Amino acid sequence: MAFIPSLPSSSFLAILFIFSPYYLAYCASSSGNDPHGAFLMCLYQNSTTTDSISQVTYDQTNSTYSSVLDLSIQNLRFQTPNAPKPLVIVTPVAVDQAQAVVRCSRESGLQFRVRSGGHDYEGLSYLSRVPFVILDLLNLRKITVNVENATAWVESGATVGELYYRIGEKSNSLGFPAGVCPTVGVGGLFSGGGYGMIMRKYGLSADNIIDARIIDADGKLHDRESMGEDLFWAIRGGGGNTFGVVVSWRISLVPVPKTVTFSTVLRTLDQNATALVHRWQYIAANQFPDDLSMRITLLSLDGTDGNRTMQAYFHTLYLGRTDDLLAVISSSFPELGLTREDCTEMSWVNSTLYCAGLSGQPLEALMNRSLNAKNYFKNKSDYVKEPISEVALEEIWKWFSRAEQGALMMILNPYGGRMGEISESVIPFPHRAGNLYEIQYITAWTDGSAEVSAMRVSLMRQFYQFMGDYVSKSPRSAYVNYRDLDIGKNGDSGKTSYQEASEWGRKYFHGNFDRLVKVKTAVDPTNFFRNEQSIPPVPLPLP
Ligand code: FDA
Repeated sequence: MAFIPSLPSSSFLAILFIFSPYYLAYCASSSGNDPHGAFLMCLYQNSTTTDSISQVTYDQTNSTYSSVLDLSIQNLRFQTPNAPKPLVIVTPVAVDQAQAVVRCSRESGLQFRVRSGGHDYEGLSYLSRVPFVILDLLNLRKITVNVENATAWVESGATVGELYYRIGEKSNSLGFPAGVCPTVGVGGLFSGGGYGMIMRKYGLSADNIIDARIIDADGKLHDRESMGEDLFWAIRGGGGNTFGVVVSWRISLVPVPKTVTFSTVLRTLDQNATALVHRWQYIAANQFPDDLSMRITLLSLDGTDGNRTMQAYFHTLYLGRTDDLLAVISSSFPELGLTREDCTEMSWVNSTLYCAGLSGQPLEALMNRSLNAKNYFKNKSDYVKEPISEVALEEIWKWFSRAEQGALMMILNPYGGRMGEISESVIPFPHRAGNLYEIQYITAWTDGSAEVSAMRVSLMRQFYQFMGDYVSKSPRSAYVNYRDLDIGKNGDSGKTSYQEASEWGRKYFHGNFDRLVKVKTAVDPTNFFRNEQSIPPVPLPLP
């Protein structure tokens, strides 16, 4: 597909607009100093489908505004009465409407936010300190699977669960490496990399993208050919809302066996959890075959005897039968004591439910965008290159036992396999060879009081500081999709600088940061697509 021209503005549509209710509400105020009115006026003038755009445009006069805004917010920390609210939310049903939103935000001088699944840890897809508009891609979620050539087109508003479900509907021998949680949006997930339980075999979601359609800062639509290879490189992991709005992605599906095996083993301290976690670090990335992924979830709970203990859940997905999994584990990790009873065979699509902790649910649960119980959370990430000693693990456990039960959680995601074979610069995601695993630190809570929030955020910050001795250094790496504004942010909107952005940019992207800045400078020199951690443009050559 070659370059696709942007929307024409039409005097006919303008005439339609002046008879619409929005015009009556805003005609008195849609002058140059009323960006809200100017935005709506522009939107109607630029939409070829005036009726339908009014049905998917919400401002605070609309009774469903709040429910549309709150629908996909995952982190309740940012769903408070005091959180900044958008002037307008548009949920387009067609790509040309999305183009109009981009163009009109720009023309009216409003800050722009794009949201797909709403899972951003810091709420960057629906918050802004200056007046803003949200383009919510909720209705753009078509998925077209082509079994013959093992590809699919997926629109950004689709969730990972919807993608898995549609693949499983068409084939029991194809899959796709994406996230563990089914409600995560494809738009944000792919923009930052996207990993899950078959990453060791096939890499990230972003490693398996072969084309995309993107709206640029002028509202023009491009495909891979017309956007060029530099921009196509940048959007596969360089972070969301930075280079444009990706409306759809073409992905390569991957072969999976008709039967895979999932197992969960729980071990407490009495059951040798510390030694098992310690040993796992030597095996999970470097010894297990690529077909096997074993992640650990660590938490601490009070037992029935009232004593606190660490709990280590070893979750394994094996792309093969139980017999083969047992053979692998008994030769490389016999201490775990995995038994046949711990294992369940199923199709790959069914395993996505198990991996998400939804065993026993029907496959249709994958299509449920409201599957998650929402809570308040503050999470962070790290990468580990050297095994952490048993003594240090015991120090870590002390943090768990000092905190309120269940207040801290760690998920250890094994690297190695295919992840170690892909070069750091093939796409912007740089965390490849040499990483044993990635840690996600989680603190989640349900009491929304300011005191509890402050206490939990502080707990997370202190724990992260403590962990600094045991993880990657120079830079202390982090995963951009586990967005963490504590590691640095841009100045006030529009005032981003290369120096400021380098602080967090090198942690997320290592040496790829400079190339991302070059691409940004070329495609969005006025920094229209921006947030607190978007790559800034700078005048070339780079400092
Ligand atoms: P959201 O809509 O909030 O977007 C995130 C960012 O991308 C924002 O900056 C937004 O503006 C931008 N953006 C969104 N759509 C865009 C588009 N179409 N074009 C350009 N920019 C766009 N990650 C992972 O790799 N593996 C996993 O298993 C999980 N699991 C997981 C579970 C839960 C419960 C949460 C809350 C998060 C995860 N994640 C994850 C992290 C997840 O990958 C990350 O939060 C993504 O950015 C979420 O994408 P959404 O589209 O849902 O978010």
